[in-house]
Amino acid sequence: MKAILIANPKGGSGKTTLSTNIAGYLASHGRRVAILDMDRQKSATQWLANRPLKLPGIELMHAGNEKNAPVDWLVIDSPAGLHGKNLEHALKLVHKVIVPIAPSAFDIQASRDFLEVLHHEKMVRKGNIFVGVVGMRMDPRTRAALTLEQFLKGLDLPILAYLREAQIYVNAAFEGKTLFDLPPSLAHRELEQWVYLLDWLERIE
Ligand SMILES: Nc1ncnc2c1ncn2[C@@H]1O[C@H](COP(=O)(O)OP(=O)(O)O)[C@@H](O)[C@H]1O
Ligand SMILES: [Mg+2]
Repeated sequence: MKAILIANPKGGSGKTTLSTNIAGYLASHGRRVAILDMDRQKSATQWLANRPLKLPGIELMHAGNEKNAPVDWLVIDSPAGLHGKNLEHALKLVHKVIVPIAPSAFDIQASRDFLEVLHHEKMVRKGNIFVGVVGMRMDPRTRAALTLEQFLKGLDLPILAYLREAQIYVNAAFEGKTLFDLPPSLAHRELEQWVYLLDWLERIE
């Protein structure tokens, strides 16, 4: 089983949006995929409950069952403020971590501290876990987006994607859907921005 953790200390940075869309992508490619929802707010769980049955299925993984799950992929959505034992637990399960970062001074500051924590994790230092970052809700006309871009470029980490601020994410989420469940003609502008991220996700290091 392959597993990925989506994490950022800030609420609203885009963790659940990224988690659900990654799960949707994998499911749309015929993989057996489950989401482990570590967040007490249970956004991903509720999203899954709204997912139409006719779409490629995504399972909900219950805590405690994650090690021997009969799936190809486990996507872990995590709560704001993930640290300490819960972070250690999640890191033991995965070989990749994606950190979505929203364009604001507070998000950048909190993410910098979190990336520092990740950097000092043994599994990361030893090259057993790979970390990538995503610029989330990017509106290229804004100073915030520019500042985030500069911040990301200054990191010694792969920038997996810049995802545009777009209602298509919000609207799809209402219906338990992802970009990968929509007609490509509706989502093609967004899908283009996912190409590198998805390639990185599937790459065997
Ligand atoms: N690229 C995007 N464009 C527009 N809205 C977005 C985008 N990414 C996330 N959102 C919205 O931002 C809010 C926070 O995202 P969410 O994924 O719930 O963050 P987190 O799980 O980190 O708290 C949600 O309402 C979500 O629909
Ligand atoms: Mg969330």
